Amino acid sequence: MTASGLLEEIADVGRDGKRGGYSRHAFDAPEHDLRTWFVERAQRLGLDVETDRNGNLWAWWGAPGPDAVVTGSHLDSVPGGGAFDGPLGVASALAAVESLQRKGFRPVKPFAVVVFAEEEGGRFGVPCLGSRLLTGTIDADKARGLRDQSGVTFAEAAVKSGLDAERLGADPDRLALVGRFLELHVEQGRGLVDLGRPVAVGSTVIAHGRWRFSFEGQGNHAGATLIADRADPMLPAAETVVAVRRLARTHADARATVGRLVPTPGGTNVIASTVDLWLDARVPGTGTPELVEEIRQAAGAAAEAEGCRLAVTRESYSDDVVFDAGLRRDLGGWLGDPPELPTGAGHDAAILSGFVPAGMLYVRNPTGISHSPEEFAEVDDVETGARALAEVLERLAA
Ligand code: GLV
Ligand code: MN
Ligand code: MN
Ligand code: MN
Repeated sequence: MTASGLLEEIADVGRDGKRGGYSRHAFDAPEHDLRTWFVERAQRLGLDVETDRNGNLWAWWGAPGPDAVVTGSHLDSVPGGGAFDGPLGVASALAAVESLQRKGFRPVKPFAVVVFAEEEGGRFGVPCLGSRLLTGTIDADKARGLRDQSGVTFAEAAVKSGLDAERLGADPDRLALVGRFLELHVEQGRGLVDLGRPVAVGSTVIAHGRWRFSFEGQGNHAGATLIADRADPMLPAAETVVAVRRLARTHADARATVGRLVPTPGGTNVIASTVDLWLDARVPGTGTPELVEEIRQAAGAAAEAEGCRLAVTRESYSDDVVFDAGLRRDLGGWLGDPPELPTGAGHDAAILSGFVPAGMLYVRNPTGISHSPEEFAEVDDVETGARALAEVLERLAA
């Protein structure tokens, strides 16, 4: 059971024939198949698998208990995502358990492999939803009411997959079991490629959030409506896309993206009645809300000029994270001083780090590309990462 062999087993699950890569979304059929695969593989290792009240899977090696060493990642993807973002951490965790078992190691501390639900927010819009719920970082009522693109609420989807909607939310008893959390992940940039190294320890995660900009105008006929008579929400939406880039350039190291824009009703010969635009903004330190406010003002002025209305909703926000210094020092020492790298990507480990010592390991990605079918990791690097994970888990759990 190598990590690359495990990834191979799921290589056909959730392939997206239209976008390329994989589309595996919380509680949909491919993600359900991946969960079933995980349970089966974990049980084969003798682990006891349970689903927590928020849909996260916990595979315990031995009895659950406090001060547990917990490792894992997620199995969902962005739309048209790569094969490694998430599954690499899960496959490496299973492979690490198997290799430790093979050498006769038995953890002294409680030990679990976890699969977090809806890490990408690809279906319900809020990233790291499973770990936010576990830690109480999102209000349970807000989470219950989140809707996917076809209007299904998170509560409805959760119930359909066997959860109790009333019990969704903060799970302090379970969180209290976690002593340390470690997530292995494919690197989502070129840090390791440039350094010529296979594995890094995570240092920081930059602050990031998502906002929905809803522009409302007057739906109308594309041929019969004079230009002067239009209130076309596509105009301020387009100006906002340009303003996002322009304003992001005025903040050091800011990243701001419009990756999703939905006109309603969406007909070629129809002036849209509304356009929804999603902004993903990430600025190191405390600058994200300021940048978003600047974008909001530009969007508001563009909306007003076109006779449209604008409503802005914050869907999620997370502050900067610095991973636990002691854990980073230990990981670095045990692994022969690998480089430390910051990341602009969000992770369940970053959510957990507000509550327990948490850390991350990154595995080299030769393309430097992620959230794309071109995300990649060489087999040798995957195995090097899984060995590194096994090595540190052995020390943490001893
Ligand atoms: C998660 O991958 C994110 O940073 O968007
Ligand atoms: Mn991701
Ligand atoms: Mn991920
Ligand atoms: Mn500014």
